[in-house]
Amino acid sequence: MGFPEGFLWGAATAGHQVEGGNVNADLWPLEWMPDSIFVDRSGDACDHYHRYPEDIATLADLGLNAYRFSLEWSRIEPEPGYFSRAALDHYRRMIATCLDHGVTPVVTYNHFTTPRWFAGKGGWGDPGAPDSFGRYAEAATKHLGDLLSWVGTLNEPNLMAMMQHTGAVPMGTGDRGLHVDTPEAAPGGIGGYDSSRYRIGHVAADVERMAAVHRRAAEAIKSGPGNAKVGWSLALVDLQPAEGGEERCERARQKGLIDWLEVARDDDYIGVQTYSRNRIGPDGAVPPGEGVPTMQTGWEVYPEALSHTVDLAVEHARVPILVTENGMATSDDEARIAYTRAALTGLSDSIGRGADVRGYLHWTLLDNFEWMSGYAKTFGLVAVDLASFERTIKPSARWLGEVARANAVP
Ligand code: BGC
Repeated sequence: MGFPEGFLWGAATAGHQVEGGNVNADLWPLEWMPDSIFVDRSGDACDHYHRYPEDIATLADLGLNAYRFSLEWSRIEPEPGYFSRAALDHYRRMIATCLDHGVTPVVTYNHFTTPRWFAGKGGWGDPGAPDSFGRYAEAATKHLGDLLSWVGTLNEPNLMAMMQHTGAVPMGTGDRGLHVDTPEAAPGGIGGYDSSRYRIGHVAADVERMAAVHRRAAEAIKSGPGNAKVGWSLALVDLQPAEGGEERCERARQKGLIDWLEVARDDDYIGVQTYSRNRIGPDGAVPPGEGVPTMQTGWEVYPEALSHTVDLAVEHARVPILVTENGMATSDDEARIAYTRAALTGLSDSIGRGADVRGYLHWTLLDNFEWMSGYAKTFGLVAVDLASFERTIKPSARWLGEVARANAVP
């Protein structure tokens, strides 16, 4: 089962989940609140901020030829309008390190976390959000654009819409943006945030709003320097109807997935991120049945989801596809290999049906800070000792490296 020539094979990470010391990010204070909804604190994470040379070298040695990572906006613009030259230089060195190793960088400009000042203004719910994000995208591109060939603006902007329509959160959650509490309105909380009102998930459910943010950033990136392909990456859970849930499922697919895929028609590519399926009944998602294998996250082990959602992207986005995330949270590395093999088999079938897929970036390179669920959920190809930062390469990493070298699944 071969893949197209020049196919990108890689792994993905996100700044806040691996870098460590991300003190200016909106989530940092939330992690430290006494009644935090986070089970762990990101803390030093994997110290990838300092150890990226080793991690990128490992990725390249494995045989992978692409690395997706994110710029941490809160480091680059810690105060509104102040751009840290040192932080921008850091990311330039990261990109250069990739290129030195023959690794194509796939750079996400925002992977969930935002600067605290942006959160304080109302986050994506603030009418000024497109301008704020656009200004940052312009500054980042001026500094880095000449080295970039693939850029993603936003990671999973449709997450809140999808969660609303599958019933994971009540309708209306985040419609005004989730960062509605200004420090003035919420005195007493850590970092100025009131823990009783501050919630996670800072993308707005409104596709128009998030599309406006995306467009502004895409324009800034397209103004150069450089000539990167620009797109956004969507959370594409494979939504399937359970008994009696046909109508609800159709609506969830439309409002949570398809409306967002259609935005990508004007882009250079669409980023597909898929882990599992949700079966939708009349009241929302139905948990996997008794005895159905699940990941550490509780999601069904369902690798077929990848080809299904790639097919959906072909139908509605109609632009080239980059699989920017796919993987499995498990302590059983053989199960990770089996899952990935099955997902790639499906991907190859989609390509056989005509899908223009340019690459596959496995989630994730390193066991890392899995947001609210903390460090116990291990999606990584490489294990990390959180005390010593020592890395241990798992068999799945070597397996994926062999796939990459062969450009085929054995
Ligand atoms: C996110 C990652 C996350 C992964 C697994 C995706 O929704 O982009 O940041 O770690 O899923 O939950």
